[in-house]
Amino acid sequence: MELFIDPDDGRSVTRQLYEQIRDAILSGRLGPGDRLAPSRAVAAELGIARSTVTDVYGSLAAEGYIEGRAGGGTAVAGGHEPYPESPSPGALAPTPRSAALRRYDDNPQAEAVFDLRAGRVDPHLFPTVVWRRCVLSGLRQASAQYGDPAGTADLRAALSRWLASSRGIIVTPGQVVVTAGAGHAVDLVARVLLSPGDVVGVEEPGYPPVRELLRSHGVDAVGVPVDEHGIVVDAIPSGARLVYVTPSHQYPLGVVLSRRRRLELLRWAGRHGAAIVEDDYDSEFRHTPRPLEPLHRLDRDGRVIYVGTFSKILSPALRMGFLVAPMTLVPAVIAVRQAIDWCPPSATQEALTAFVDGGHLGRHLRRVRAAYTPRLHRIYRELLDRLPAGYRPLPALAGLHLAVVGPDTASQDDPSHSLMRHGVLVSSLRRTYQDPGPVTGFLVGFGALPTEQTAAAIDALATGLTGR
Ligand SMILES: Cc1ncc(COP(=O)(O)O)c(C=O)c1O
Repeated sequence: MELFIDPDDGRSVTRQLYEQIRDAILSGRLGPGDRLAPSRAVAAELGIARSTVTDVYGSLAAEGYIEGRAGGGTAVAGGHEPYPESPSPGALAPTPRSAALRRYDDNPQAEAVFDLRAGRVDPHLFPTVVWRRCVLSGLRQASAQYGDPAGTADLRAALSRWLASSRGIIVTPGQVVVTAGAGHAVDLVARVLLSPGDVVGVEEPGYPPVRELLRSHGVDAVGVPVDEHGIVVDAIPSGARLVYVTPSHQYPLGVVLSRRRRLELLRWAGRHGAAIVEDDYDSEFRHTPRPLEPLHRLDRDGRVIYVGTFSKILSPALRMGFLVAPMTLVPAVIAVRQAIDWCPPSATQEALTAFVDGGHLGRHLRRVRAAYTPRLHRIYRELLDRLPAGYRPLPALAGLHLAVVGPDTASQDDPSHSLMRHGVLVSSLRRTYQDPGPVTGFLVGFGALPTEQTAAAIDALATGLTGR
């Protein structure tokens, strides 16, 4: 730990050092077993007498904060509960708008026997060998300078070819902007299309991080109900400047936006001069033979901004995604991206280009689909058989999670909390609502659950729900 002496501080040097080390121990910045620098080194570094440092260490040892170590040296002693540092009066504070935002991850600290949270992918399916090769060749190609804020020309071209072949979306590479995932793409769109106070329609229930993101821009994110055909277009507020939707696999319910509703939504956007953000976050994992048609393909007026991500296909750790925007928006999106962090990382872009152009993405996708589809069918069957009365899994045609709807009783606890106590982590359905009312369901992610563990996991889940 760095120690400092302030010559203008009224306290003695001994007192200053003593309090710095003691406060570091009490606040948890130094933990039990952490070594302190030898007194000789501290004295030399600070230009003070060694006896001053040994006096400080002596006082701290006498009070039980530190102890000598067999074989020499001094380390922090155990048995001190760190106390949270209380903010000083006048401490910096976020704006009320930022302070009102809530972090979204379901209990990140929790230890569990079964992790069935939505959004998890199977790390064992990551194509490590091929990716390592692509990264090595990417490192050789990568520019050591600031790059194009829109992404490299090669990756944008590779993505436009990939979109044409996999989703039937025909766009020029100039319309593709590489981003740090889908959330980042929505952020860029919000920055160029929205102003504080604007109204945006979001699905209710919906994806909480995007809701929070929109709120962080001072936008009024109004929940629009979702029924068995997807978002209810008639319920979109007429003043909305933008509507954010997940048409291929509604998050969290899994509904596919019907063709009729897609056309209605496009007509609505045309009439109101509004934009539509189509978040196609996990439709690559379709569990039906017929591909789901993106909203973007039906758009004749340039209203739809299509957003894709590699978080599910490859790994959320890559932080790679993209957006496809009408040419009228692209220059502003690029300028905003540059103002924020200049450009995407060049080595990862080169690696991804090699991965897509080398045909590995298509092969990888076939492999992971073959692994995930039986997991979905198995888990759906097990849930149908084993869930206690009142709980019902909703069918899913795409993606890596399914929703379970519970009994509508206002008094009931959120089942995700009671399940956690039984070692089963699921995502709360209630948290996906802005206005949850009596909702008591949960989301079961099967991405990271090997098929052979399905029975044991659902067994633990059923036991947890019945409170046995
Ligand atoms: C609706 C939705 N959109 C986007 C994402 C992925 O976002 P990102 O690409 O920022 O990791 C997720 C992840 O679970 C999601 O559920």
